[in-house]
Amino acid sequence: MKVFINKRIPEMGITMLQEAGLQVIFPENENLTYEEWLKYCQNTDAILSIGGDFKYDKAFFDACPNIKAIALYSVGFDHVDIKEANQRNIPIGNTPDVLSRATSDVAFLLMQSVARRASYNFEKVKQGNWGAFDPLHALGQELYGKTLGVFGLGRIGFQMAEKCKKAFDMEIIYHNRHPNEEAERELNATYVSFDELVRNSDVLSVHANFTPEHKDLFNQSVFDKMNPNAIFINTARGGFHQEADLYNALIDGKIWGAGLDVTNPEPMSADHPILELSNVCVLPHIGSATIEARNGMAQLAAGNIIAFSRGEEMPNCANPEVYSLHSS
Ligand code: DGY
Repeated sequence: MKVFINKRIPEMGITMLQEAGLQVIFPENENLTYEEWLKYCQNTDAILSIGGDFKYDKAFFDACPNIKAIALYSVGFDHVDIKEANQRNIPIGNTPDVLSRATSDVAFLLMQSVARRASYNFEKVKQGNWGAFDPLHALGQELYGKTLGVFGLGRIGFQMAEKCKKAFDMEIIYHNRHPNEEAERELNATYVSFDELVRNSDVLSVHANFTPEHKDLFNQSVFDKMNPNAIFINTARGGFHQEADLYNALIDGKIWGAGLDVTNPEPMSADHPILELSNVCVLPHIGSATIEARNGMAQLAAGNIIAFSRGEEMPNCANPEVYSLHSS
């Protein structure tokens, strides 16, 4: 079975595939155009897919009828049309759990960086502008005893909430599709409506899976309701927030600061005015960028492909329903 991998991943994943007897194909150049990418995908059975630049939609599946399985090198699968994959009996693997700690670390880091204006102050130092001690300049805020609101309290949201509870004794409120009993028991988290989450959070951190209904959910009308001391954190997907509205909310003082590991679009343009603000920290989507998380992702993604090649169910599958849909 041929497996196309569009970028190098940690070696252990590649070795696993080769030791399982699979033929691994890499592109000559990793920066593929859509047409070049399609050509590789048309000549392969399975893809170990890195990045979200190209969509797995009807047009893709129609153009690549030989594809039988896709193992994503990500937990998020918002770039895959799951309905189309299901119709074609294509399992979509993903990489949950192994990146939860690393991604929640980045949410926690952004929260503190914004609260203490770390990026702004670091920039000043780099520009030779250390400045004299000033009792009033660019003050931060402390997080002790404040309220963390989690939108989407799953694996990553839980770890962010746990860190905030342990480090700063923060109150945890959350909004989810379903209550999270473990978080209520272990973190004393309280389920609230979306409106209560928005109004009562001192830090609002987004951790949900992105679906089309979530597009621009955090927009002007939501920022208007937030506490002017609130910090907005997004490490999930840039599509959750309306970026122009976020910028306006920051300069109008509707909210206090923002920390983003995801932007809309990505990459964010280097001359985006939000980057000029002292109460903002933007990172280039590095949530899972640790050696540990990336090794774990390589193992899970390779494991999904190997299971598929043996006629088994993928152990980490974003569309497990695919296995019952066509079984009769
Ligand atoms: C994920 O795993 O979904 C990360 O955001 C990388 O895309």
